[in-house]
Amino acid sequence: MKARRHFYSEKLAEGKAILAPMAGFTDAPFRKLCRDFGSSWAVTEMVSAKGMVLGDLKGIEIGEPYPNEPDLVIQVFGGEPELVAAGGAKLYELYRPSALDLNMGCPVKKITGKSCGSKLMQDPDRAAAIVRALSEAVPIPVSAKMRLGYDEMNVLEVAKAVEEAGASVIAVHGRTAAQKYSGEANWEAIKTVADSLKIPVIGSGDVSTRAQFERYRSWGLGVMVARAALGQPWFFAELLGKASPSQEEKAKIAYQHALLHLNWYEAISPEREKHLMMQFRGQLLRYFAFLPDAKPSLIKIASLADLQTFLLEWFALDVTGMTSNDLKRQSLNSF
Ligand SMILES: Cc1cc2nc3c(=O)[nH]c(=O)nc-3n(C[C@H](O)[C@H](O)[C@H](O)COP(=O)(O)O)c2cc1C
Repeated sequence: MKARRHFYSEKLAEGKAILAPMAGFTDAPFRKLCRDFGSSWAVTEMVSAKGMVLGDLKGIEIGEPYPNEPDLVIQVFGGEPELVAAGGAKLYELYRPSALDLNMGCPVKKITGKSCGSKLMQDPDRAAAIVRALSEAVPIPVSAKMRLGYDEMNVLEVAKAVEEAGASVIAVHGRTAAQKYSGEANWEAIKTVADSLKIPVIGSGDVSTRAQFERYRSWGLGVMVARAALGQPWFFAELLGKASPSQEEKAKIAYQHALLHLNWYEAISPEREKHLMMQFRGQLLRYFAFLPDAKPSLIKIASLADLQTFLLEWFALDVTGMTSNDLKRQSLNSF
């Protein structure tokens, strides 16, 4: 496959929102759903560069893409330039993503303790060396997703260093690592970064309405969405001006997500199906948050047949003939 050097600039020109990486959520089925509803590209959860180099593919479990997955950005984490470069090269060789993204935002101790994730905000030289080594190791664009700082705001200094080192795009979550997810994301600070760099900047944090999306776009920023897409992948279509799906349409989308989940994680036996559906209950609760009375039924779902019965009882919806392929048609044509 021919590598596209201009992947990010071409995609940003489309003016769509982007699915942000979320550990534990942005797996292949969810990325597909969000792309089908209009996410410009979709980022995997972070994958360990060291794990890739050591051949421990467990680390890629949830980041693993569909064969030939389009518009795929794999996020990688690591603290050593050579290691991240080698891990990135391996990821490129295995999955041919459109771009690689360096995680500089994770605030979790297990990651920061190893000079990875948001800890890189305190060491701009190291962050720049990693971006440079990674860019040299792969023939695709490299980006970095960072925070406003570790405990103090220093994003401008770090962003400039990373730009200088060859990053094609920078994404900024408008909080410091110390803030984790508290307070409000500071989009003025993100705009200041964008105004000071030559490369495009994408903002991330608290986008939950179309008005916010359009405001930040009008500031010249790319816009990432994370939590607001959970249990509502159609949010990307709404951001592009499409009407919200009806409750019945939402129920069908939830069902299609369940089908994609069972397919992808190989529900090859009744036990496996039970395990996978129990794992999927959290998603179901999100999809059906508009039906609080349904919670007791949802937390008992342990098979696809249980979900079919639920949809029949609550929506008079017979989904037994539906396949996961119906989704693309539906997302493009309706609401
Ligand atoms: C459950 C969860 C997992 C996340 N995992 C990652 C990750 O692996 N890499 C990353 O760069 N950011 C990660 N983030 C941060 C998001 O990409 C995003 O920047 C942040 O949630 C703010 O955006 P939001 O308000 O739209 O959720 C994660 C966020 C959440 C809620």
